[in-house]
Amino acid sequence: MRGSRSRDEEFWENVLERLHAARRKLTRVVILLNGKGGTGKTTCTANFSAVLAQVATESGSAKRVLAMEFDPQGNLKSEFGQMGKPGDDDGKSILAAVMGTAPLAPMREVRPHLDLLPSGEQLRRVVRNLAPANEHERVELWLSFAEALAEIADEYEWILVDCPPGDEALQKLAMAVARWIVIPTVFDKASRYGLEQVGHLLQDPDVDRFNEDVDVLGVLMFAFERREARAIKDDTGEIVDQKEVGQRSRLRRALEEDLARGGSPAPVFQTVISNSRVVGETCRELGMVAYELADSVQSPQWPQLRKELAGTLGGLVSITDTTAEALAADYEQAVQEIFGRALKEEAVNS
Ligand SMILES: Nc1ncnc2c1ncn2[C@@H]1O[C@H](COP(=O)(O)OP(=O)(O)OP(=O)(O)O)[C@@H](O)[C@H]1O
Ligand SMILES: [Mg+2]
Repeated sequence: MRGSRSRDEEFWENVLERLHAARRKLTRVVILLNGKGGTGKTTCTANFSAVLAQVATESGSAKRVLAMEFDPQGNLKSEFGQMGKPGDDDGKSILAAVMGTAPLAPMREVRPHLDLLPSGEQLRRVVRNLAPANEHERVELWLSFAEALAEIADEYEWILVDCPPGDEALQKLAMAVARWIVIPTVFDKASRYGLEQVGHLLQDPDVDRFNEDVDVLGVLMFAFERREARAIKDDTGEIVDQKEVGQRSRLRRALEEDLARGGSPAPVFQTVISNSRVVGETCRELGMVAYELADSVQSPQWPQLRKELAGTLGGLVSITDTTAEALAADYEQAVQEIFGRALKEEAVNS
């Protein structure tokens, strides 16, 4: 018994030593996680990385943004219109990195300053390899992936990971390399339960031992009615504050209580992503993020595109440039708040 304990200690000592160097390079890894399906994880990953890449492009940054998907569904690559495009390997590169057989090879420049590590059926093989492995074997696979990601991390300002709703093996793999967790949440009980599940994952002894740096950055309210926020203006008509009503204010209070109960100092972000299913669906169908759709709606090609979409989306889509613009503005504001907070935390802790 004693012998086996010391072998365990030796194993972890060795892992943590190798991990130390990798961890220093993984300080800007943000994962979008909620144990419940359909809470906006993929849509937010796509829009946040696109906005961050745009900022990097505008500032002439030498670093890019990497968006990665840990879900065999492969929705993230559809958001960028990359499904089946050259370089879409269905997750083969992620699989190879987990198995330690090849370095990570993202699709380069799917947008200016934005690289993509696509997912697909190959992720099921990652799950198969992680699932039956004993504790040490599993941790070796996490380590192999962490080292592969650290190997390319210097090229990136931010690395975003879109997590699957149900698969713990992939969720834990993402937690193993993450610095921050952002939890998108919609208005239903199950989505709050999903938040609780993130808490359980954080308490997982292996995750905790492997990565004591990972923490919740905040909860993001997704797909809420814009009309449930009333702007408070000063005498000159400038918006100085906003007051939320209805479901929106109720859920914010409930989420704040959930976080406090779990002992987390993380906030429910002020920025809320507004409800606009039709814009969301049109974006995925066209392989565009919100600001690209907003531009497209204003282009001379839009009437023709709209007719073509009527066939695939079952009816004419009624998108005005203001709805698309407003949603694009939500994502921009969310990026400022969320990644601004990550930078502040980084400055405090360094
Ligand atoms: N602003 C929006 N308002 C309402 N619905 C939206 C909005 N943007 C996208 N959607 C739709 O919400 C649904 C869920 O979004 P998304 O796929 O991002 O969630 P998810 O958490 O990644 O789901 P899963 O758990 O299945 O991976 C999609 O059908 C998407 O088209
Ligand atoms: Mg998804």
